[in-house]
Amino acid sequence: DWMKIEISPSILACDFGKMNEDISSIEAFSDRLHIDVMDGHFVPNISFGVPVLKWIKSDLPQDCHLMISEPWKYAKDFVEAGATIVIVHSEVYGGDSDGGSLEEGLKALRELGCGVGVSIKPATPVSDIADVLRLVDQVLIMTVEPGFGGQKFMADMLPKVKELKEMGFEGDIGIDGGVNAETGAMCKEAGANLLIAGSYVFKSDDRESAIEALR
Ligand code: DX5
Ligand code: ZN
Repeated sequence: DWMKIEISPSILACDFGKMNEDISSIEAFSDRLHIDVMDGHFVPNISFGVPVLKWIKSDLPQDCHLMISEPWKYAKDFVEAGATIVIVHSEVYGGDSDGGSLEEGLKALRELGCGVGVSIKPATPVSDIADVLRLVDQVLIMTVEPGFGGQKFMADMLPKVKELKEMGFEGDIGIDGGVNAETGAMCKEAGANLLIAGSYVFKSDDRESAIEALR
């Protein structure tokens, strides 16, 4: 089926000394903004948090990708800081955590009034989120190990797109990590409708062309 392709530059790759200038440089050509929050615990890197989100000046919808161990503690702060969609990782729920089940977490997110997304790391099968697909607007498939920009695209994650569709998921299917013109074409071919790209867009001399090459 035909679906509009949306491009969401990841600000992790921008120059934080001039973050809003960098965001302005892509705003007219982009559909959404992708905002990577890392806590140094769920992933082996620390990026930025709520104080930085508050400084983002953009009219684009802001997808806040929480790579943090306890999203239930902080989600409300991110919504108040401007997140349009809050995306949590399925892997942080269950076990001994006090965050409840993934299902409870996603329902609580919805009550905050934001859009809801769930992300899965490369090792996590789509079957792990089968029961919660009805609760989310976006599934974010990681095509790198979360934690850093500029990594190599894992093409063997792409069958997850088809699996989601076969399960009847009709929301946005985003691909995150290592997306460029070449790998982006593979994502679209696989049926994804949302491409996240950090390095490819922000390190390009011609960001408009880079984004158009992804469409
Ligand atoms: C990885 C992040 C990605 C990253 C993508 O942990 O979730 O969103 O910013 O960066 P590139 O496009 O450079 O792989
Ligand atoms: Zn991300």
